[in-house]
Amino acid sequence: MRKVGQLSLISLSIAFTTYQKIWSGHPFWTFDFFLFTFIAWLIGWHYDKIREFAKQSKANEEGYKLLIDTLPESILIHQNGKILYLNQPFLQLINLSSMDVAIGNELNNFVGPPLTKQLLNAILLEESKSKPVDIEIKSKNGMACFYEVSSYDIKYGNKDVSLTVIKDITLKKEEIRILLQRSEALALLGQMAAGIAHEIRNPLTSISGFIQLLQVNQHENQYIAIVESELERINNIVGDFLHLSKPKEVDLKEQNIEHVLKEVIALLNLKTENHNIQITEEYESDLPDFYLDKNQMKQVFLNLLKNSMEAMPNGGQIMIVVSRMHPEQVLITIKDEGVGIPKEQLPILGQPFITTKENGTGLGLLICYKIIESHKGTLKVDSKVNQGTTVSISMPISIINERKLNV
Ligand SMILES: Nc1ncnc2c1ncn2[C@@H]1O[C@H](COP(=O)(O)OP(=O)(O)OP(=O)(O)O)[C@@H](O)[C@H]1O
Ligand SMILES: [Mg+2]
Repeated sequence: MRKVGQLSLISLSIAFTTYQKIWSGHPFWTFDFFLFTFIAWLIGWHYDKIREFAKQSKANEEGYKLLIDTLPESILIHQNGKILYLNQPFLQLINLSSMDVAIGNELNNFVGPPLTKQLLNAILLEESKSKPVDIEIKSKNGMACFYEVSSYDIKYGNKDVSLTVIKDITLKKEEIRILLQRSEALALLGQMAAGIAHEIRNPLTSISGFIQLLQVNQHENQYIAIVESELERINNIVGDFLHLSKPKEVDLKEQNIEHVLKEVIALLNLKTENHNIQITEEYESDLPDFYLDKNQMKQVFLNLLKNSMEAMPNGGQIMIVVSRMHPEQVLITIKDEGVGIPKEQLPILGQPFITTKENGTGLGLLICYKIIESHKGTLKVDSKVNQGTTVSISMPISIINERKLNV
């Protein structure tokens, strides 16, 4: 702080006392001298303080102005809706060419595109001080522009005011949208690729099995029929994936559940024999035929039986029981004596790509859940580590019969 005020007034007091001593012969070191000098020092000190404060305020204002003028964003300093200062980009935002017209004026007077009422509200909004507010403004030609408005409390000169920064984030938003679109497309592509690989692997396994059998026994025509039907399944699966965007329609036809299950078990015969696995079946007598999508249900049973077999690397028994829970419901359970599923893994079963297998895609159960759901049934997994797993599928016959009436 420069002590111009203090020094001047103290000098004045000394000069005055000296003058009095010379011309009137008064003693120099009087009480009055000390009192006047002290008062002069006090007034001078206050004067210097005020001058310093005014200087600092001016410097603070100038500092803000300098900073704001160099920044590319639209920036405005305002108090109670009145413009105190603004930079060139903000001037363009309110379609003005001269700062003098804007400064000291109410912001309200400049409402008009692109400074819409909505944008003005965001500028004056207290919430924009805690976190930036995003605003979308549609121009007359339908183009959307996006702005991010953030405000801060500042000391401008000696006033408590708001400083608002308005960023045009239209390009950033567009970039994010394109990136998101691209990553969604990539994720979908990856999911589809994994899905196709998974779905096709099952029929390919059975085809290769039957071709091995054909090599041993060349006159077994039934094997050729199975290979043909499995190839047709592959064809159907590829077709299904090509139409993945459309929901998978269930092709309901009256089916005997026992026959469907036996067809799947026949496909796995070679594997079960090689791995010392016995499949036992128990069907309640007088089970009605019901309307199922045979291919889809075969896929369910194949996925579940494969899971059970994979859970018993040293062999064991798989028990299939089909019963009528009550007149309206059929219950199919597949029980194995495999390694079981840890408790914490049970709730996430059916989520895509959850697998504990080296070559698993983790889509098998998800597909089962989806297919059973589309048949208006439910699928439940109970399991205990080292004891085994039971999958229970319940299918409502009434709904199936209703469908039957409609077919
Ligand atoms: N019967 C079962 N016994 C033990 N664990 C099982 C059983 N069924 C499913 N699991 C567990 O659930 C996981 C997910 O099964 P899912 O069938 O969805 O995928 P996956 O078998 O790993 O691979 P894939 O897509 O080839 O079927 C398995 O990796 C396995 O850890
Ligand atoms: Mg599986």
